[in-house]
Amino acid sequence: MAIQLETRKLANFINGEWVEVSESTGVTNPATGEEIVQVPLSNTSDVEKAVQVAKEAQKEWALVPAPQRAEVLYRVGYLLKERKERLSQLLTQENGKVIEEARGEVQEGIDMAFYIAGEGRRLFGQTTPAELKNKFAMSQRAPVGVVGIITPWNFPIAIATWKSFPAIIAGNAVVWKPATETPIMAYELAKIFEVAGLPKGVINVVFGSGSTVGDAFVHHTDIRVISFTGSNDTGRNIAAACGKQLKKVSLEMGGKNAVIVMDDADLELAVEAILWSAFGTSGQRCTACSRVIVHEAVKETLEERLLAAMEYLTIGNGLNESIKVGPIINKAGIDKIKSYIEIGKNEGAKLLAGGYELTEGEYRQGNYFAPTLFTDATADMRIAQEEIFGPVVSLIPVKSFEEAIEVNNGVEYGLSSSIFTNDVNRVFKAQRDLDTGIVYVNAGTTGAEIHLPFGGTKGTGNGHRDSGVQALDVFTEWKAVYVDYSGTLQRAQIDV
Ligand code: UN1
Repeated sequence: MAIQLETRKLANFINGEWVEVSESTGVTNPATGEEIVQVPLSNTSDVEKAVQVAKEAQKEWALVPAPQRAEVLYRVGYLLKERKERLSQLLTQENGKVIEEARGEVQEGIDMAFYIAGEGRRLFGQTTPAELKNKFAMSQRAPVGVVGIITPWNFPIAIATWKSFPAIIAGNAVVWKPATETPIMAYELAKIFEVAGLPKGVINVVFGSGSTVGDAFVHHTDIRVISFTGSNDTGRNIAAACGKQLKKVSLEMGGKNAVIVMDDADLELAVEAILWSAFGTSGQRCTACSRVIVHEAVKETLEERLLAAMEYLTIGNGLNESIKVGPIINKAGIDKIKSYIEIGKNEGAKLLAGGYELTEGEYRQGNYFAPTLFTDATADMRIAQEEIFGPVVSLIPVKSFEEAIEVNNGVEYGLSSSIFTNDVNRVFKAQRDLDTGIVYVNAGTTGAEIHLPFGGTKGTGNGHRDSGVQALDVFTEWKAVYVDYSGTLQRAQIDV
C-alpha cells in the first residue's frame, strides 16, 4: 500500500502558516493517471504577501550567527533522513521516477543539508594585506536579501535543496515556486523546515503557474536574485527580464549530453552506463545521455550489446521495486517525444528499438514510452542536437577521438559528457577539451555529487552553478571592508 498524503488540497506556506488559496488544479500520478492532490494556483497578491514577510524575516535571520543558522539545517538533514522512505514513496507518486531513484534523490537533499550546514562555520572570505600602515583589509560574504527560487518537476526535492539551503545558510530569506506537477516535495520540505525551527518567513512556498507566480518573482523589485532550473525558452525570458532590472539570475537549462565510446573501451561497462544514463528517470534528467558517440570500430558490437541489454528494461509503476523505467511526466511530454521519433525517422536515422508509446493493459492509464534506440544518426540531425527529455538515445558513429570531441562540443548545450577509454592520454585530453560543466571518465553522464558545482557551459546556463560551495556565489554579495587604525587620513594609492 502506497503512502498517502494526509490532505487532498495543499496550501501555500507563508510566514510559517499554511495559507489556503481558492483556485487550484489537480496533480496526477503519471504512473496511474489518478489525481493525488490539488495544488494552489496563487495570484500576484499571494506573491506580494510572501515577499513582504520574507523581507521582514530576512533582517532578523541575517543577524543570527551563521553557525546557529547551520543548526537548523542540521535538523533539516536529520528530519529528511528520518522521513526518507515516506518522501521517496511520495516522490515516486508525483513524479513517476522509480523508487530506487527517488531514494537517491532524497539522499541528495540529505547530503546537501549536512554539507551546506558545515558552511555555517566557514562562509570564508579573505583577509589580505592593506597598502598602507595600520590598515586592515578583508572581504566577506553578505546576504543579498530576498531570493526567488523556481524549481522543476524532474528533481523536485534535490534541486530545491541545492538552491534553498545555500540561500538560507548565507542569511537570505526565500520565496519558492515549485513546479505545479510536483508540489508534494515542496509541501513536505516546508513541513520539515517548520519542525526544524526555521524562523517564520525565512522560507515561503507559493504554488502556482510560471506565467503568474514565476513572472511576479522575476519582476518584483524586492527579490534580488532569481535561481531557476527549467526549460531553455523560459530561462532565456527570465534572463532578459532580469537583465533589464539588473537583477542577478542563475540559470540551469538542460543539456544534450553524450557518452563517447572509444575503440579501446570496456564495452560491457559502457553498455551498463549508457542504459543507466539514457533510460534512468525515463531520460528526464538534464544530465541524461541522449547521444552515444561511438568509434566505428566498435559500433556494431555496441549496438548488439545495447539491444540485448534493453530487453531487460522493465517498464511500469516505479513503486514496484522490480521496475527499471517509470512513466513520462505527462501527455505533453509523451507528445514531444513522439514528435522527435518522427523527426529522427524523417532525418534518416535508423530506429533499432522502441519508438512508441505504451497504451495497452496496465499502461493504459499512465504515460509510458518504450526505451528507444536510434543508430546511424549524424551530428547535425535535430535528434542529435535538441533536448528531447525522454528515453531516446541516438548513436553517432565517428572515425577518431578528435572527431568524437568535436561532435560532443557541436551542440548548443554544455552540461555533462562522458568518455569510455582505457588510454590515460585520451582521458586527460578529453577532460581538458570536452566543453561541458561536468565530465565523466568511464561512467555515464548522470550522478553529480552535491559538494561539486552543478551546471554547464553555453546554452545550459549563464555562468553560475548550483550546489557545491559555488552556490554561495549566487546568494551572496562580496563586501570589501577596510579598517584604518592609524588615526590619520591615509589616502590609498597616494600616501604609500
Ligand atoms: C537534473 O537533471 O536537473 O547528476 C539534475 C544527476 C543528478 C541530478 C540531475 N544528481 O543526474
